[in-house]
Amino acid sequence: MHSPSPHSLVDLPIRRLNRGDLVPCADLCEDRGWPRDEHRWGLLLSAGTGYGIDAPDGKGLAATCLTMPYGSGLTAVGMLLVAERYARQGLARRLMRHVMETVGDTPLALYATEQGQPLYEDLGFSPVGRAERVGGLFGAPGPGGSGPAVASPSRASVTTRPAAADDLQAMVRLDLPVFGIDRTHLLARLPAFSDRLQVAEEHGELVGYAALWPSGHAEVVGPLIARDTATAQALVSALAATTDRPLRADVHDRHKELLGWLTEHGLEPLSSTTVMTYGIPDLPGDAARRFAPLTVATG
Ligand SMILES: CC(C)(COP(=O)(O)OP(=O)(O)OC[C@H]1O[C@@H](n2cnc3c(N)ncnc32)[C@H](O)[C@@H]1OP(=O)(O)O)[C@@H](O)C(=O)NCCC(=O)NCCS
Repeated sequence: MHSPSPHSLVDLPIRRLNRGDLVPCADLCEDRGWPRDEHRWGLLLSAGTGYGIDAPDGKGLAATCLTMPYGSGLTAVGMLLVAERYARQGLARRLMRHVMETVGDTPLALYATEQGQPLYEDLGFSPVGRAERVGGLFGAPGPGGSGPAVASPSRASVTTRPAAADDLQAMVRLDLPVFGIDRTHLLARLPAFSDRLQVAEEHGELVGYAALWPSGHAEVVGPLIARDTATAQALVSALAATTDRPLRADVHDRHKELLGWLTEHGLEPLSSTTVMTYGIPDLPGDAARRFAPLTVATG
């Protein structure tokens, strides 16, 4: 059998993905050197909408893309992946065009890798910020570090504890002005998705929350929503204390203080992504309290 020509590749049908596609989705991640992340795909395909192109050689998926809708206010785009053997033949462009046509006037947001950014720029997306991926074993600061892993004295009244079922409403209330759009459909899935969900309180009022979920051999911190850096530090310290595995987080790079503190505690810069939007000048919400996304695929 001969290989299909590039022309026939871009004519391949796009279909909706469902939970039966978890393994081929994970295989595609592996093909690109990403963690298989079946657990994350499970969340994304149940709360969002996946699109895929079946590989013409019959070996799984040639390409995927995921959209996470937040009403008519925003759709996040992620998991744009093309199998190495079908690279640079227009599949990513075709999937993105399909997604843009499907969402119509709804604004889009995504975290672009270096490989993806030229395509998004070409399609009209604009850069609005960056996120730094850091990872490693979280520990006490080394000799060059500036202090122990505790919140500053001015925030000594902030305490953290594991979230309980009846915290969800308060989390949603806190999250709304920070994320800028209602994402109850995702937050309601966090207790089942996370290994640990932690809330921060001051005088009985919720001032932050964060989740810890498994990815490959690491545990990811996200979302990380907090009133200030000290609260974010208290949440990360509490989550880190629950695991021996390396941590990973995609921290918005305006939060330099938190990034510096994470580095002092053993996490290293791994890569960075460019936050890009289409149809809106910036991400909605309050960037000062938005430290890290749930995943870069959910915006
Ligand atoms: C990024 C990715 C999805 C592109 O898929 P693709 O099907 O090869 O892309 P296309 O053939 O549709 O190319 C579209 C444009 O993307 C850009 N592009 C594609 N591959 C690229 C690469 N390796 N480096 C830089 N730019 C690239 C080019 O601008 C290209 O346009 P051109 O062919 O006119 O030059 C693919 O390389 C991939 O899966 N990478 C790993 C995962 C990843 O980083 N995904 C993006 C997440 S934001």
